[in-house]
Amino acid sequence: MEYTVKSGSPEKQRIGCVAVAIYASRKLSASARTLDEISGGVISNLVRRGEIEGDIGQTLLLHNVENTLCDRVLLVGCGKEKDITTNSFRKINQVMVKRLEASGATEIASYLTEIPVKRRDIRWKIQQSIEAIDECTYQFNQLKTDKNLPRRPLRKFIFSVSGRGQLAEGETAVRNSMAISTGIKLTKDLANLPGNICTPAYLAKQANILQEQYPKVKTTVLDVDEMEKLGMGSLLAVARGSREPAKLITIEYMAGNKKQAPIVLVGKGVTFDSGGISLKPGAAMDEMKYDMCGAASVLGTIAACAELQLPMNIVGIVPSVENMPDGIAIKPGDIVTSMSGKTIEILNTDAEGRLILCDALTYADKYKPDVVIDIATLTGACIVALGAHPAGLMGNHKPLINDLLSAGKKSGDRCWQLPLWDDYQEQLNSNFADIANIGGKGAGTITAACFLSRFTQKYHWAHLDIAGVAWKSGNDKGATGRPVSLLMQYILDRFESGH
Ligand code: BES
Ligand code: MN
Ligand code: ZN
Repeated sequence: MEYTVKSGSPEKQRIGCVAVAIYASRKLSASARTLDEISGGVISNLVRRGEIEGDIGQTLLLHNVENTLCDRVLLVGCGKEKDITTNSFRKINQVMVKRLEASGATEIASYLTEIPVKRRDIRWKIQQSIEAIDECTYQFNQLKTDKNLPRRPLRKFIFSVSGRGQLAEGETAVRNSMAISTGIKLTKDLANLPGNICTPAYLAKQANILQEQYPKVKTTVLDVDEMEKLGMGSLLAVARGSREPAKLITIEYMAGNKKQAPIVLVGKGVTFDSGGISLKPGAAMDEMKYDMCGAASVLGTIAACAELQLPMNIVGIVPSVENMPDGIAIKPGDIVTSMSGKTIEILNTDAEGRLILCDALTYADKYKPDVVIDIATLTGACIVALGAHPAGLMGNHKPLINDLLSAGKKSGDRCWQLPLWDDYQEQLNSNFADIANIGGKGAGTITAACFLSRFTQKYHWAHLDIAGVAWKSGNDKGATGRPVSLLMQYILDRFESGH
């Protein structure tokens, strides 16, 4: 999709379609009023006749509106003008796209940017619009013979800004969002690929492609024997049960000041999680191909930073394995030694994410990081606790937690803090090793984070449990691309505040 910004009034747009807002009940937005006046009251007549109330979800497509230069005018219901929220703003944009896809228009000038949303500026509105439009038009059809492509796909959106003074800001928003969109698309594509294609080696290959695409990206892939030398006994223990060899992928994007300590992102890359010997039940097991969404979001975030040529230092670390049962797979009761030297009693082979993350988190220390954020589809318990709306957030550094919470609010890609109190740590006591890999009944998301916290004491660290937000189940199943927006907002906020 091509996005641009423009200032100018709606009747002067020579384009396939102009989209304008109608508020509930039957209230015309400023640009709808302009079109109404110039056309001799076409819109107000229709509204008076009850053709559109202005509720969210409603649309009305008009053709040949007099004295305008566009082929069509799309009226989009927005609900009450005073009540428009972050969520409804996105919804309104999605409804617009759905209606446009069913029309013949391929180029659109959107005046929905004039809708008031509390405490949000033009930049935010353009960014949210672009994300909503991309979400609507995304298709994953590379493995279908019938690609089911739209006959006349949408090609171009022009966002209206209220004056020349807003052009620069609008253009920044477009530039940022298009880079973020590139990252989200990469994340979704990788996540939607099945486990037989998207293996640890495949993820490594994708990371190498990023290196070829962007001059500032440097990718390194460690193989099993190199990891053995580093003493990554915990990560390799998980990999034993699979024919697919484990990979430790690092992607360095060091475009910032040499002296600036990097932001390190660590993403869980389990390309299929069968549970191992602690085998999962059969229902919906296919969805465990998404157990590499953390890894995919790290690749997506770095791609977005590189696309923007952001002068920052960001490092991605992706431990990647497949969790399978085999004759030589780890068994409940096995004890392994992690890279940190700590011994781990594996009481459940299905708690594998933390086993690979702990070695990657120990490895992260070599970058002398400013902060480390790990991103993982770590626990089913997180879905029970928080559902599909926010990611679970825990960590050892208040300012980092607060930065992530506010980046979540701003981007709409939200997270919610759970308490990482010491009280929970004893649930990980083991009779036979330094630590057990499960915490028994209660607070499964927190005890998983407690486990990770034993390996992150040397730096500022936050953990995002994205089990509930990284993909949707059901008929419309698929990856969401979260939390790339959240991570990018965090990174851009840090860039803009200069630290
Ligand atoms: N990848 C799963 C977590 C998961 C489950 C994500 C369902 C999304 C949907 C993780 O490896 C896992 O199996 N966790 C176990 C931990 C338990 C054994 C302590 C879980 O959540 O059941
Ligand atoms: Mn598991
Ligand atoms: Zn898993």
